[in-house]
Amino acid sequence: MNAASRCKVKIVGATGYSGGELISLLLNHPRVEITAITASSVTGPEPIHTFWPALRGMVPVPVTKEVPGEGGAEVVFVCTPHGAAMEIVPAYHQTGCVTIDLSADFRFNDPAERTGWYEGEHTAPGLCAEAVYGLPELFRGKVRGANLIANPGCYPTGAILSLYPGLKSGALKHEGVHISAASGVTGAGKKPKQNLHHPELDQNFYAYRIGKHQHLPEIVSVLRRAVEKPVSLSFVPHLLPLQRGIFYTIFAAKAKEISLKDLWALYDEAYRGEPFVRLYPLGETPTLHAVRGSNFVDISLHQDAVTGEVIFASAEDNLVKGAAGQAVQNMNVRMGFPETEGLLPIAMQREPDCVCS
Ligand SMILES: NC(=O)c1ccc[n+]([C@@H]2O[C@H](COP(=O)([O-])OP(=O)(O)OC[C@H]3O[C@@H](n4cnc5c(N)ncnc54)[C@H](OP(=O)(O)O)[C@@H]3O)[C@@H](O)[C@H]2O)c1
Repeated sequence: MNAASRCKVKIVGATGYSGGELISLLLNHPRVEITAITASSVTGPEPIHTFWPALRGMVPVPVTKEVPGEGGAEVVFVCTPHGAAMEIVPAYHQTGCVTIDLSADFRFNDPAERTGWYEGEHTAPGLCAEAVYGLPELFRGKVRGANLIANPGCYPTGAILSLYPGLKSGALKHEGVHISAASGVTGAGKKPKQNLHHPELDQNFYAYRIGKHQHLPEIVSVLRRAVEKPVSLSFVPHLLPLQRGIFYTIFAAKAKEISLKDLWALYDEAYRGEPFVRLYPLGETPTLHAVRGSNFVDISLHQDAVTGEVIFASAEDNLVKGAAGQAVQNMNVRMGFPETEGLLPIAMQREPDCVCS
């Protein structure tokens, strides 16, 4: 494809972890051209290697100060913290481009669902109903027609994909589900904090925001919409002293008599055609190494020998399937590109630490 016919893309928040990951992925995407990359705290044009040394000489444009709505791109990725995104997204939406927002600001169709979980009033509530939740495995048809795509949260992605077929089919109970998940520290963004300081984090491991993490209502809300029934669950996130990756352990009771083998077959049928969901054979368990730097969610099914509960052990890379990779997947679906374009070969071959070390 020649440069003139490539899709022009802009990345807002290019100096952050998910923005940097997105640049790396898009540089290897044959159908796009990066035409603008911005952040809020630069005063004049800055070369990319100021922020991402590994990208020295590889990005044709400098990082400039963000001016919402400018740039003339056909696809704009907004990779800013929540709260900031709702101030930026409307200006792009008005231009008619496809906007893919990686923050939580447009993940709830009813902004009232954010109340108590996110600070402040929504400043663009009218756009929430229009946004499509960009989890292609569940909402691919809607993503195809969307001009505003709300990219899912990192924890919700693997949790929802692990639970969806079992809940949708009625094989698993819709209440009493427990999600325990541990994330690498890039999930917290690049802003320095005391608990993210190396001596605090290294060789340490603990749960945080127990039972009150902001991704809890997102998981509940999306599953409720997808399975068309109320879903009740608890969620305990943990901080891992690693750069990237999320490992999930999820417990759900059976709603009816079904063998693990039959439940597995149901998952196999649900995800057989999905390029980025890998269902492990019974008896095998994913690891973070298996998904590091890739757009895969790896899912395995087990059964507790005493309680009979189903246990999912799943893994994803928070920066790829949990953020930038899923955003590229959404762009591919929306723009009619092959869904795996720019994702599969890179996921297998690239060094995942190149933008985060
Ligand atoms: N990290 C993950 O694993 C992950 C996963 C899924 C979703 N997300 C979501 O993706 C978004 C970005 O996360 P992140 O971890 O990449 O954050 P981050 O590392 O903190 O980076 C945030 C980026 O946004 C820029 N920014 C902040 N305010 C801005 C504004 N008003 N205008 C323009 N740019 C602005 C920052 O630049 P300055 O420093 O110059 O302000 C920086 O480039 C968040 O909403 C997060 O919740 C993150």
